[in-house]
Amino acid sequence: MSDDVGYGRVAALVPAAGRGERLGPGAPKAIREIAGTPMLVYAVKALAASPVVDVVVVAAPSDYREDVGSLLQPQEFSAEVFVVAGGESRSESVARALIALPDDVDVVLVHDAARPLVPPEVITNVVAAVRDGHAAVVPVVPLVDTIRTVSGDASLGATVSRDSLRAVQTPQGFTRDVLQRAHAEVDAPVTDDAGMVERLGISVHAVDGHEDAFKVTRPLDVVLAEALIEHRRTR
Ligand code: C5P
Repeated sequence: MSDDVGYGRVAALVPAAGRGERLGPGAPKAIREIAGTPMLVYAVKALAASPVVDVVVVAAPSDYREDVGSLLQPQEFSAEVFVVAGGESRSESVARALIALPDDVDVVLVHDAARPLVPPEVITNVVAAVRDGHAAVVPVVPLVDTIRTVSGDASLGATVSRDSLRAVQTPQGFTRDVLQRAHAEVDAPVTDDAGMVERLGISVHAVDGHEDAFKVTRPLDVVLAEALIEHRRTR
């Protein structure tokens, strides 16, 4: 979204180097097929088709980097798309993608390849919130289940009030400076980039996520994703 008011470009980093063991044995998760197309292709298409995204950098499993390159090559994207080798952890994969960013990028999204069906408005809302002055932005959704703690002997503990809880999705959006600083300075076992940025003492702003942006993690999620693709095709 570079434009007349002097903004830089917007890049989306796609960590896609996970093995996806919870999905069962097979190829790395990002290149497993959903309705005949590798999961990663949906995620990259969603980002590259967004009018607010200019550059997409995919962190592929290092032994599949060329395969991922050739999966994406025949697609016609309006955004520039690069592929780099990912790392041993999600944060290392993001760090490697960060290194490949062009200089004129000032807003960076990080989006899991494992969330292939993210709707366009989530991407737009996250970028808009960063442009509005929030250095770190996450899309969130309410929880549907009753949440309880469970102790070691399997007895139920307290009910945690659902009203104040949210599940955090991606794409998460950041100013480039803040995300780079988090990756340079924070070495903590956190599962997302917003968690790293918080360790810098920067507060994270929440916007509405969407149930379609669910993470494909377990075998049932593949069934759900295929049903949603079919639903979108026929509606
Ligand atoms: O394992 P989990 O589902 O939390 O992974 C979230 C995202 O991080 C996935 O898109 C996965 O491919 C990516 N990842 C990565 N490099 C790793 C591990 C996970 O890019 N080493």
